[in-house]
This record gives sequence, C-alpha cells and structure tokens, in this order.
Amino acid sequence: MKQDFLNYIQETFQFQEQEMKDFEAALNKPLKKTLRVNTNKISVEDFKALALKNNWTLWETSLGENMFYIDREDTSLALGHTLEHIAGYIYMQELAASSSPFYMSEDMIDETEYNILDMSASPGWKTTQLTEYYPNSLIIANEIDKSRMRQLHENTDRLGAKNVYVTNFDGRHFKNYPETFDKILLDAPCSGEWTAYKTDDALKYWNLKNIKRIAKLQFQLLESAFIALKVWWELVYSTCTLNRLENEDIINKLTDKYWDYFRIISLSEDTSNPLIRAWPHKNNTWGFFVVKLIKKESVEDIKVKTNLQTHTQWFEKLSNTSEKTVRNYLTENFSLEFPGKFYTYRNEIYYGEKNIDFFWEHFFFYKMWVKIWKLEDGEFHPNFFLGTNFEIFEKNTLPVNDEMIHTLYSGWEIEMDDQWHDGYYQIHSNTTPAGCVKIKWGVMKSLLESRFMRKV
Ligand SMILES: C[S@@+](CC[C@H](N)C(=O)[O-])C[C@H]1O[C@@H](n2cnc3c(N)ncnc32)[C@H](O)[C@@H]1O
Repeated sequence: MKQDFLNYIQETFQFQEQEMKDFEAALNKPLKKTLRVNTNKISVEDFKALALKNNWTLWETSLGENMFYIDREDTSLALGHTLEHIAGYIYMQELAASSSPFYMSEDMIDETEYNILDMSASPGWKTTQLTEYYPNSLIIANEIDKSRMRQLHENTDRLGAKNVYVTNFDGRHFKNYPETFDKILLDAPCSGEWTAYKTDDALKYWNLKNIKRIAKLQFQLLESAFIALKVWWELVYSTCTLNRLENEDIINKLTDKYWDYFRIISLSEDTSNPLIRAWPHKNNTWGFFVVKLIKKESVEDIKVKTNLQTHTQWFEKLSNTSEKTVRNYLTENFSLEFPGKFYTYRNEIYYGEKNIDFFWEHFFFYKMWVKIWKLEDGEFHPNFFLGTNFEIFEKNTLPVNDEMIHTLYSGWEIEMDDQWHDGYYQIHSNTTPAGCVKIKWGVMKSLLESRFMRKV
C-alpha cells in the first residue's frame, strides 16, 4: 500500500525522479523534536533560563517566538516526564501541526472576547494554543470520541488553558446553529499520512476508497463549520495529510457550493497560492495543509433542524446558598473573588468565567472550565488546578523551590517547619503559580491527582 501512496503522490504532484527520492528519504528520516512554551504559565525568557539549567539546547523556528527545536544530551527521562512538562510549561507539538492556530491568529495575542469553536479538538494541542492567542475568549472544544475526552481534559487542565468548555458532538451538529461563532478551527480528522514517519505500517491500509470516505466527512464538517460561522468572521481548515482529496478538493467543493459567500485569505507571500502546504522533504516537517477563509454573506435557505434534542446537563448551576458558601470559603482562605459562575457535578465544583447562557440552553457540556473543589465528608478540598489557573493568591500562599516542586509533583511529602499551620495553600515558584497543597501535622502533600504525577 505504501507504493500506492507513493505513486499517488508522484502522479498528483508531478514529482520528478529526484524530488520523489527526496520525498521518500524525508519520510524515513526522524523529525527534529519541537516544543511549544506555554506562555499561559511561563515566559519564554524564564523558560530559556530553565532550559539552560537543564542543558537543553533550543533553536528558533519559523513559527513564532515560543516554538523551539530542542536537543537534549541526557534523554534518560522522556520529555513527557520532565518537571517542565508536568508543570505545564511546555508541550511537545510538531512544528507544522502548530500552524493552524498560528495562522488563525496571525501570531498575535488578541484580547477581544470572541466565541471560538475548536470543532475536533482532542487531544487539545491546538485548543491550548488558541487560549494563548485569545486569552479572553470563550473556547468551545468539541470532540466526538468519548475515549479521547480524557486526554483533552488532562491537557487543558495541565496547561492551564483558560475558558475552555468541552462538548461532545458530531461536528456536523453545529450547522444547526447558524452564525454563532466568531472564529472556528476545523483541524479535521484525516487519513493521517503524516504517520508514515512513525512506521511503515502506517500506510498499510492506505487506499483511495478510505480517503474518499474520510473526504466526504471532512466536507460535511467544513460545511457545518461554515454555516455556524458569523458573517465577516474566520474559519481555518487544516489536516495533517498530503493528498489533494482531503485538502484542495475539499475547499474546491466548498467553492462550488458557496462561491459567493466566502473568500480565501492568503496565508503565503505567493498570491497565486493562498494556502499553506508543508512537505516533509521541503520543510522538514509533517505533511500539513492549512487554509483560512472569511465569510462574506449569510447563507440563505439553510435547513436547520428544529426538533433538536434538548440536553439534560450533567452539570448544575450551584444554588445561591451553596454559591455563597463557596464564595465565602474562597475569600476567607485565599482572598479570592471570582466574578463568574459556579457549577456542580456529583461532589465536584467547577468554575467558569464566561457567560455561556446561550450554549447552556442548547449544548450538552462535558466539562466546564476548571474544577476547583471537591466536597468530601462534608468538607471542601481545593483541587490542585485551583492553584495553577489563577494569579498568585493574596492569602495562604507558599513559595517553593525547584527541588520542592520536583518532590511534590512526584507524589512525595515534605516536612515543614512550625511556621506553617495545617490547611490548604497555593504554592508558587517565583511568579508562577504551581498548584494547591495540603499541610497536615507539619507535612506538605500535593493535591495533584496521581495520574498527573511525575514518573521518575
Ligand atoms: C486531527 S485530530 C484533532 C487534533 C487536535 N485538533 C489537536 O490539535 O490536538 C481530529 C479529531 O477529530 C475527531 N473527529 C472525528 N470525527 C469527528 C466528527 N464527526 N466530529 C467532530 N470530531 C470528529 C477525532 O476523534 C480526532 O480527535
């Protein structure tokens, strides 16, 4: 099947012999590792200092100031198990795969409050990237596959991705809400030809029939996104695959049907070719495709389902009495005032800052922004991420050094001196909030759930 794939590439893109050899050689070459510094948690300067201390070498990339190539002499500990990763300072993301949020935002932080839809979001790399570019926006991160939800939750929590609310729909459902979102990212499910890097087996099932099947879904998703987009706002479509059927042909199909309703915004300097196509042998990256378009006019005669199932939320809005208790607790213990809303699910309390009234009525939420408390044995226990998602509290905070963070994030305890009375604290390292801990009988323990802990 790999040969079918290579033949397809050669015929479709008219590669000459040498280019074909370069292409094949590039598929067999390991990619340089890249990481993105999560500026929600740490500044690029502070991260560079950490990298220097760890003996990590960083090189700039073409995709913004916080995306780096990384080289490490000592690789005995996988990057995913380093303190920097567990603490959410970094995430490993392939260079080209970071490009869709990069082009959506033009690499600029925009503090306007938008409603953004990330239509197929798990594991959440691009969702978290979007929260860096749009710190005040409401981001609906949607994922159809329940088995991929956990990764999405974990990544958005670990990276402190603000104002992300998770839904679980087939993306084709959003067309029932015309002109609802200011920006939409459709990082579409695709045949994943990029995985050819990982193993030859990845192309074992490559065939045009499969690709046409996926392309059909991609067009339906794109159409749904296009309808759900507000007029004069933007949609980015991306895939990590190379064939034309899932890329240019999808856009051509949209043009055939809605040619008067949108225009493509050029992402490249070559005005005759407005989209971005990354090639393994030209860009030393995965294969990747990005196109950005702006909607010019309302699409008339849209058939919207009116008998939509009303969703019973798992979450409930906290009653006034309970809300008062939570607010008092937050003020008394940490001097925290939260302007937003509280939600409850089983014995957990979640906080959300954005006004989601419209979505609350229509959408079923799988996760609200951030879990802050758990009620156990009639007592409130702060969640670890209460201490990472907000600024340094005014009360009950405790400075920790790198060694203490390492100990706590590995699940070990630290004996404290007498000045620290029993209770809950937010820990912080310099100016970076680093989580919530509990001190009991002079011993400090992190409240981080074991699944997030550092494996050393
Ligand atoms: C390329 S991945 C998304 C990667 C993600 N944007 C990121 O950056 O981490 C495509 C995702 O689309 C989801 N998906 C597949 N069919 C879908 C559908 N009909 N509606 C919404 N999402 C779908 C897949 O489960 C998969 O998680």
